[in-house]
Amino acid sequence: MYKIDNETVQKIIDAADIVEVVSDFVSLKRRGANYIGLCPFHNERTPSFSVSKAKGICKCFSCGKGGSPINFIMLHEQMTYQEALRYLAKKYNIEIKEHEMTDKERLAETERESLFAVNEFALLHFCHNLKETTQGHDIGLAYFRERGINDAMIDKFKLGYAIDSRDEFLQTARLKGYKDENLLTTGLIGKTERGDYYDRFRGRVIYPVFKVSGKVVAFGGRTLRTDKVGGKYVNSPESLIYSKSNELYGLYQAKPAIVKKNKCILVEGYMDVISMFQKGIENVVASSGTSLTDGQVRLIHRFTPNVTVIYDSDAAGIKASLRGIDMLLAEGLDVKVLSLPDGDDPDSFAQSHTSTEVEEYIEQNEVDFIRFKTDILLKGTENDPIQRAKVISDIVVSISVIPDPIKRDIYIKECSLRLNVDDRVLNGEVLKCIEKLRTEDYKKMLAERAKNKASETELISDKKTTVTTQPGVQPTPGESPKTDTVESAYQVDSELTTSETTSVNLEPYERQVIRYVLKYGMMPIEQPSDEADELPYRVIDFVNDELAADNITFSNTKYGMLYSMALALTTGFENDLERFREKALDDRARLWEEGENEIVRTATTSDEIDKRRKKLKEECDTAYNDAVNQFTANYLERNLSSSPDDIARNLTIDLIGDKYILSKIHYRFTQIEEEKDILYRLVPRSIHELRNAILHDRILQLSDRLNNTYRKNPNDVENISALMRELMNMKQLESKFAKIIGERVVMPSPLRRR
Ligand code: CTP
Ligand code: MN
Repeated sequence: MYKIDNETVQKIIDAADIVEVVSDFVSLKRRGANYIGLCPFHNERTPSFSVSKAKGICKCFSCGKGGSPINFIMLHEQMTYQEALRYLAKKYNIEIKEHEMTDKERLAETERESLFAVNEFALLHFCHNLKETTQGHDIGLAYFRERGINDAMIDKFKLGYAIDSRDEFLQTARLKGYKDENLLTTGLIGKTERGDYYDRFRGRVIYPVFKVSGKVVAFGGRTLRTDKVGGKYVNSPESLIYSKSNELYGLYQAKPAIVKKNKCILVEGYMDVISMFQKGIENVVASSGTSLTDGQVRLIHRFTPNVTVIYDSDAAGIKASLRGIDMLLAEGLDVKVLSLPDGDDPDSFAQSHTSTEVEEYIEQNEVDFIRFKTDILLKGTENDPIQRAKVISDIVVSISVIPDPIKRDIYIKECSLRLNVDDRVLNGEVLKCIEKLRTEDYKKMLAERAKNKASETELISDKKTTVTTQPGVQPTPGESPKTDTVESAYQVDSELTTSETTSVNLEPYERQVIRYVLKYGMMPIEQPSDEADELPYRVIDFVNDELAADNITFSNTKYGMLYSMALALTTGFENDLERFREKALDDRARLWEEGENEIVRTATTSDEIDKRRKKLKEECDTAYNDAVNQFTANYLERNLSSSPDDIARNLTIDLIGDKYILSKIHYRFTQIEEEKDILYRLVPRSIHELRNAILHDRILQLSDRLNNTYRKNPNDVENISALMRELMNMKQLESKFAKIIGERVVMPSPLRRR
């Protein structure tokens, strides 16, 4: 197995032309500097899908989807990062250089393949048992029939049966040459204390678990005994190929419907999925009993931002789904909740109703999570203020985890109406909560990063893909492996500390700064004077100096991460530029040669030849310089918007999208200055504004402390006057800032962003 080298990745990123890539799927028309077409991600009649060749990104102004060429392919073809790279490499005839894996890596990879092979064999065997053996027929199939499952579903979900015998499976597998060792690792057989092997799934009906790609990674075996001796379910253990928390039962089968309906229904168990599917509700997946994990949530998000959680109405079901809701919200998903009538689970409900009834019930009864929480949690607490307060703070937490400030606002308003609480009070609570979460989040993120890194080196994770370069071979979407360039950035990241000052929302200010860095980081902050031969003072250098001077770090962890990734990229820039120059020089030579030939062929006098040569040289120079300048200017955003890190990539797209919209407005009013021409004004100003916001925040905190101190002990003159002095200083500083920034300190409105 191979992993694509960074150099190849770089070549692919540089070669991929967004217009060409998108054109393979969408018919585009030129409009001004951009191209437009019908969005492939949602149904529309008038085109709102816009592609910018110069910026190398596409975006739908209606549904918001789009991104770099890699993003587009990942979204459109539902590929992983590595698969998208290979797709583009093929399109552009780029030879993929991949490093052969080390012995250790290879061993792990062969083991993976062996495990997949064993599972594949078991799958066929169990299916065969169910349909072709008497026992399977009489017991297994009869069971599914009794539960109302039809043959189409049995085929669709490849349901099976394991013969009730000590070692029927083991013997057959051995005969076929499968190794005991691999049968043990996949949990298909077990080993007694005395060292005897036995079929672990014997006498059970089998629910195979598939990855998104359709590879079978695990099995669930349900007992048919009423006494449930040996447990109701036997499940495959975690292994090199199976990480329970990163799979969703039914996703492979549900994927097309999820994409089509742009919605995913989340249920608990195997039978819930199958029964709903059978009733025509095909966009349904299960977390398989355990509470939802981050990995599962992200998996859903790959296909849709809309989730409806269905859960049993018993107390345990409610508790579990409440936790799950917050995780879904934190991932930025739009969450609805559906309660079933008392005593029903999705399985029994689907079995006892018609397709139309089920569909109508969902449509009429799913409610947003605020409504769900208020209804469920407030039941019977009308006269209990303490209980009520608890519910409110519970909802506040849910709102706080939502990443999008505009959505938060909407929910705050709704919550305020439903609970009859002043929305300013709620807003304050939410802000407090966000502040707390940020610190916790950041620590968690660092811990997770560290963990991921460790597991990657040991290769115990499921991250390696089994993609091959041969076309037509169905690859396994692993979860975007990281390349080295980007990973080095996280080390820098760990140096950044969370700011203590986040009670006022600094987000818009930080967003502004990070956006300038991404968009214009490699450009000189001022156009260098002609004679200056020295290195240009780039925007990113300027920002870095300014932030360092005041010890400012991004309080928003994602911005912080992106910023350090951008800084890390600057170190590799010279090398990449050198490579690009070579290519650009080739292009230039070709252009020259073509022009030269043309001149020789058509010119009549030597005077004309001289003149035309001179002009040709100018043209070649301009083309070359433009290419190099554009490469430089787009360097950060191009690389970050193609980053293997999901968060970084999506956030970058989001941020460059801002400007993208703005530039449309610029386009209409041609008189308006372009951002890139006034960076020397804009960038320093954005830093001042950020500083000012931080200062303002500190002032608020200080007055709080002053108040508290005074209230506690009005005679504590010493402390009080110290605090007052500090406060005065800060206020003076603030007014100084205000002068620098201009008369008004304009807060970038979050609304302007969409
Ligand atoms: N589950 C599991 N392993 C267990 C218990 C439960 O994987 N030991 C998962 C299964 O996906 C199961 C789901 O949790 O479908 C819900 O468990 P449970 O309610 O006990 O089973 P049901 O799905 O209701 O099974 P059935 O309707 O066949 O009784
Ligand atoms: Mn059940």
